[in-house]
Amino acid sequence: MNIRSLLPALMLGFSADLSAQSTLLLTVHADRGEHTISRHIYGHFAEHLGRGIYGGIWVGEDSSIPHIDGVRKDIVEALKQIKIPNLRWPGGCSADEYHWMDGIGPREQPPKMINTHWGGVTEDNSFGTHEFLNLCEWLETEPYICSNVGSGTVEEMSKWVEYITFEGESPMANLRRQNGRQEPWKVKYWGVGNENWGCGGNMTAEYYAGEYRRYNTYARNYGENRLFRIVGGPNVDDYHWMEVMMKNIPTGQKNGVSLHYYTYPGDTWGKWGSAIDFDETDYYRTIARTFYMEELVSKHSAIMDRYDPQKRVKLIVDEWGAWYDPHPGSVIGFLEQQNTMRDAIVAAVNLNIFNNHCDRVHMANIAQLVNVLQALFLTNEEKMIRTPTYHVFDMYQVHHDAVLLPVTMPVKMLADDRGMTFPQVSASASKNAEGKIHLSLVNTDLSETIALTCSLEGTSGFTGEMGQIILAKNIQDYNSFDQPNQVVMYEFTDFQMEDGLLTVNLPAASIVTIALK
Ligand code: AHR
Repeated sequence: MNIRSLLPALMLGFSADLSAQSTLLLTVHADRGEHTISRHIYGHFAEHLGRGIYGGIWVGEDSSIPHIDGVRKDIVEALKQIKIPNLRWPGGCSADEYHWMDGIGPREQPPKMINTHWGGVTEDNSFGTHEFLNLCEWLETEPYICSNVGSGTVEEMSKWVEYITFEGESPMANLRRQNGRQEPWKVKYWGVGNENWGCGGNMTAEYYAGEYRRYNTYARNYGENRLFRIVGGPNVDDYHWMEVMMKNIPTGQKNGVSLHYYTYPGDTWGKWGSAIDFDETDYYRTIARTFYMEELVSKHSAIMDRYDPQKRVKLIVDEWGAWYDPHPGSVIGFLEQQNTMRDAIVAAVNLNIFNNHCDRVHMANIAQLVNVLQALFLTNEEKMIRTPTYHVFDMYQVHHDAVLLPVTMPVKMLADDRGMTFPQVSASASKNAEGKIHLSLVNTDLSETIALTCSLEGTSGFTGEMGQIILAKNIQDYNSFDQPNQVVMYEFTDFQMEDGLLTVNLPAASIVTIALK
C-alpha cells in the first residue's frame, strides 16, 4: 500500500488497519459497448405523502421561503445540478385516489382531499397539474404522470391526457386555456395505475391486465405527443404478475412494465429497522438485500425476454430504495427517515445494477425526492440539506446517456448473518459522447481496503483524468441541519494509470468514480 492510499483515512481521522486489504483484478471491456444507459435510470419520484410535496417542494406563493411561483428555489437549483431527467407524480398509492380535476382552477376554489393512505391528513390541492408541469419545465425534466385506475375512471384518465396534451379546440384543451395555459405540455411517460395488486385496487393480475387494456385504449396520442405507456407491474418477486402482464397485454399496447422493490434490514415488513441506529449486522443485511435487486431484474427480464426478445418493452423500476422505521417524533404515515453513508452505498449499488441491465431497464425512480423514505433532500422550514444519496446522483450523472461498457471481475463474496451472499465490490462503466470512460466502484466491505487493478480491453492511450469519492468516518454518519456536510463527495487521487493499467486503492465502505480520457 502506498502512502496515498492512506490519505482519505488519515484526513478523516481513521485508524486505518493496514492488514485489512484484498486485491481485485477487473476488466472494463471498452470495445464491447452496445447499449446506452438511459438517463431516465436516474429518475425521481415525488408523491402526495407527508412533507414530500407540501413543505418539501411546494411552499406556496405567499411563503417567506425563497420560491419560484410557490416551488422551493433551493430544491429547484439543487435538482438542476444533478440534471434530473424525469419526475414521477402524484404517487404511489396516492395516485389511485387522486382526482386531477380537484387540482386545477383558481387556487381559492379547489376541493380539499383527505390523504387516507398517508397519515389521514387533509390537503388543499394547491399543488396540481399546472404546478407540477411548470416545475418540470423549469427543471427541464420529463414529467411522468401516474393515473388513477384504483378509484378513478377511464374517462378521467382520458380527459387528463386531453387536458394536458391536446392543442386544438376541445372541452379539455379549452378548460386548460381558461386556467391560464395556452400551449399544450408534452407528457410522454404515463403510468396506468400504481401497485394495482395492493393499494391500487387489490386486483388480480388477470383482472388488472384487462383494466389496463381498457384504460389504455382511451389514452390518446395527440399531435406529436406520443405516450410511453407503463403497465402497473409486480411487487418484488411476483413473477406470475409479470408473466400475465407480458402474456395478456399485447406488446404494441405497452412500452414498459414497472417493478417495485424496497430494501430494509428488519425481519418483517413494518419492522424495517432504524435509519441511523444500526450496527454491522444491520448494515450487511441491508447491503445483501440491496443486491437482491440484481436477481429481481434478471428474473423479470428473463420473463420479458420470452415474450419480447427484441426488448421493445422496458422494465421501469419506478420505486426503489431503503425503507426504515419512521424518524422518532415524526408522523408515522409520513415515512420520514434520515439518510446515512449506508444509504449512499444502497443507492450506488442499485444504480450499478440498473446501468448493467440498461438493455432492458429504461427508467428507475428512487423513492422519494424530499423528506420521504430514501430522500435526496430533507427540509425544515427554510432550511434544506442534501443527503448522502444526493451526492451519489451527483457523482453518477456522468453515466447519463453514455454507452455501457461491460465490466468483469472474479469478485469475493461476503455474507450477512442470515447467510445471504453478495459481492464485496459493485461496478459499472460507460463511455460518453466525448469518448471519456467513467468507472464507478463501490466497496461494500466495512473493513477491507481493496487494491484494484483494472485493464481496459480493446483500447489504448487512456490516461486518468480525475476521481471522486464519497466516504464517511462512520457508516452511520449523516447530514443534519446542524452539520449538513458530514457526508459529501470530494476529490479522490488514490489511483494511477500506467501502461494501460489502472490501479486504485478503494477504501472500505466507499464509492468512487474515476474518469479516464
Ligand atoms: O413510496 C411509498 C409507497 O410505497 C408508495 O406510495 C407505494 O407505491 C409503495 O407501496
